Amino acid sequence: EDPALLAAFEARIAAGESIEPKDWMPERYRKQLTRMMSQHAHSEIVGMLPEGNWITRAPSLRRKMSLIAKVQDEAGHGLYIYCGTETLGVDRHELVEALLDGRAKYSSIFNYPTLSWADMGVIGWLVDGAAIVNQTVLAKASYGPYARAMVRICKEENFHKRQGYEICSVLANGTPEQKAMVQEAFNRFWWPSLMMFGPSDTDSPNSAELLKWRVKRKTNDELRQRFVNLTVPQAIAIGITVPDPDMAFDADTGNWEFGEIDWSEFFEVLKGNGPCNRERLDARRKAHADGEWVRAAATAHAEKQKARSST
Ligand code: ACO
Repeated sequence: EDPALLAAFEARIAAGESIEPKDWMPERYRKQLTRMMSQHAHSEIVGMLPEGNWITRAPSLRRKMSLIAKVQDEAGHGLYIYCGTETLGVDRHELVEALLDGRAKYSSIFNYPTLSWADMGVIGWLVDGAAIVNQTVLAKASYGPYARAMVRICKEENFHKRQGYEICSVLANGTPEQKAMVQEAFNRFWWPSLMMFGPSDTDSPNSAELLKWRVKRKTNDELRQRFVNLTVPQAIAIGITVPDPDMAFDADTGNWEFGEIDWSEFFEVLKGNGPCNRERLDARRKAHADGEWVRAAATAHAEKQKARSST
């Protein structure tokens, strides 16, 4: 790679300019963004599954409508980010193939089961809450199409988080059984939500390069701490106990200090050994196969339109 081009590229990043699809960029930058954006898109699509399981069992029409809207939003986010990834010159079909044959990663959080209705509240609150903390910063990423996608996506994630927290606050103020149900759901999702931010900074091979090129603007640990600081007071406000005996407020730093994360669990989930990895991929493969006729019809229609416009 031409050192002069690289120096000009890095100067643009240092000046806070955004990099656009037709601009020159180092191959490594393109590769890192393709990796991160495609993993992100896959996460949105696989992320529809745990909540999709509960649409038919929502306790009221109002809850069902918001849950359907939320799951549909996640589909939109996935498609939007696949489009963003295509601006880097990759073909979406290749990315989808990599997901379906198990080569691609997606967020660890979606490999956990949804066992009760309270999980819908806790996912909205914690999982979408964590996504907002991460993605608000990505809205300032150096790659223009990704940053712009994050602006819109964060607006929708805010709605998701609010509907989740509202479900939790209603349950937490409900009958003893409802309170127990939401606490139990919170207990299961708390630690996996902290793992969403990725390995600790000392163990994050991609961070240095992504920070240098301003794709990431904060480290995994910084964002995790921000999420904990925002979430603990919300839990206290509705009478939920955080399942961490080491949790304590440090008045000097203003941080809620938390206990050790079980990284062996995290790496097992990444290797495909989480509670639902197999189930999630099977569900995606089935959905893809079931959609074959739609893709065939859309392709045939596009070809017919093209033939008509060329005559
Ligand atoms: N789940 C699955 N894989 C993960 C996770 C996670 N929670 N965290 C890290 N990893 C993977 C990384 O993708 C990387 O794998 P690879 O090198 O084989 O591609 C490896 O673990 C090492 O991690 P890092 O070096 O820290 O990776 P990176 O610098 O890319 O940081 C992070 C990981 C924070 C997830 C970053 O990629 C990111 O911000 N991505 C965009 C946001 C996103 O994908 N959100 C998805 C969940 S939100 C939602 O869908 C609602």
